[in-house]
Amino acid sequence: MSPIAPDYAFATPFLNPPASPIRSLMPYAMRPGTISLAGGYPAQELFDVEGLSVASTQVMARLGGCLQYSNIDGQASLREQLARLSAARGLRCNPDTELAVTGGSQQALALLSRVMLQPGDHAVIETPAFPNSVQALRYTGAAVHTVPSGPQGIDLDALDELAARVKPKMVCVVASFSNPCGATLARERRLRLLELAVRHRFLVVEDDPYSELRFDGEAVPPIAALAEGEARHWAVYLSSMSKTMAPALRIGWLVAPAEIRRRCVGAKAADDMACSAWIQEVVAQYLANGRYDEHVPRIRAAYGLRCDAMAGALARELDGRIRFSKPQGGMFFWARLTGDVDATRLLPYAIEHEVVYVPGKAFYANPAEADLHAMRMSFATMNEAQIAEGMVRLGRALTACEANEPVSVSLAA
Ligand SMILES: Cc1ncc(COP(=O)(O)O)c(C=O)c1O
Repeated sequence: MSPIAPDYAFATPFLNPPASPIRSLMPYAMRPGTISLAGGYPAQELFDVEGLSVASTQVMARLGGCLQYSNIDGQASLREQLARLSAARGLRCNPDTELAVTGGSQQALALLSRVMLQPGDHAVIETPAFPNSVQALRYTGAAVHTVPSGPQGIDLDALDELAARVKPKMVCVVASFSNPCGATLARERRLRLLELAVRHRFLVVEDDPYSELRFDGEAVPPIAALAEGEARHWAVYLSSMSKTMAPALRIGWLVAPAEIRRRCVGAKAADDMACSAWIQEVVAQYLANGRYDEHVPRIRAAYGLRCDAMAGALARELDGRIRFSKPQGGMFFWARLTGDVDATRLLPYAIEHEVVYVPGKAFYANPAEADLHAMRMSFATMNEAQIAEGMVRLGRALTACEANEPVSVSLAA
């Protein structure tokens, strides 16, 4: 290969690909002995290996029929099961015309973005948000605007004002246990969001990987499930098996008005032709066996204990130095350092003390809006004892940082 790269004429959205601050933390998070609260991974020891093995064995017995290309919109068996699962959450749909299987909810958002957006268009996402969602919107070349989100979810007054001004085609939210805020949009706020969608004629896109991980309080139906009359044309629902079954399956789904769904399926044909028929059959079999309904409560219970452990240890070890609101589900605490030290300055000290979190600024589409004192801590992958120890270490790291002690770890700015 030539030592000097040619001046490739990259497409505009790919000219300056952003570095991933979360991925760059992973080498530290993987160090033996380190307590990592940084990842967005679900707990590996809670994967239902036995249930998936049983389903796999059943599918193996009819493997010959599962090695062909799948229908682009997904295997009929899986679409039927996913329609049943969506209905259990309150969202009824036709599995043949309104639902399609996707490669995780990430691909669902990427397909939808491609179908709806082009340069010159406007889209809105709450901030802070999952960086890959922001990128899915940005890669279309559309202008991506942000609306602040907090413990109650997206600020609807700010959205109303922005929508009147920029006329977005899509507004994206994680309405249940958002990543990174852990926030949930209450039912009446979901209804108001639908009203805004109808008035301003934008699609409300709810990305929902987390709602089934509720360990406290009452379930709130998906936004699309609350849509009546004209609002039904403006609501799209995306979900995923990544946090409740396993991310390696790469199975998610979308529920959308038929005209939108049809175009997303066309985009998927151009993207990856279809998800693996084999894996889809395993997921469908697992669901048909009733294992999903049996297993998800176990994950929920374990995460509930871990969340309690984090809330207790934060209050005990960092009383007054970190503020937080306790989520009712999902995997994340969004916490805020109350003193002069910000989350980026603290991080090398934390790494030295063998505990890792993600500074909140990684989740802001617009760096100028970032809350530099915020941090995201996942309680999903560590057990209660590790979480408690992690908070002890974080307290020590904060003390060392406040005292300006020398630190051996240096991180790129
Ligand atoms: C808000 C959000 N959307 C989408 C995803 C990706 O999910 P999937 O594995 O289904 O593509 C994640 C994963 O962390 C997420 O937090």
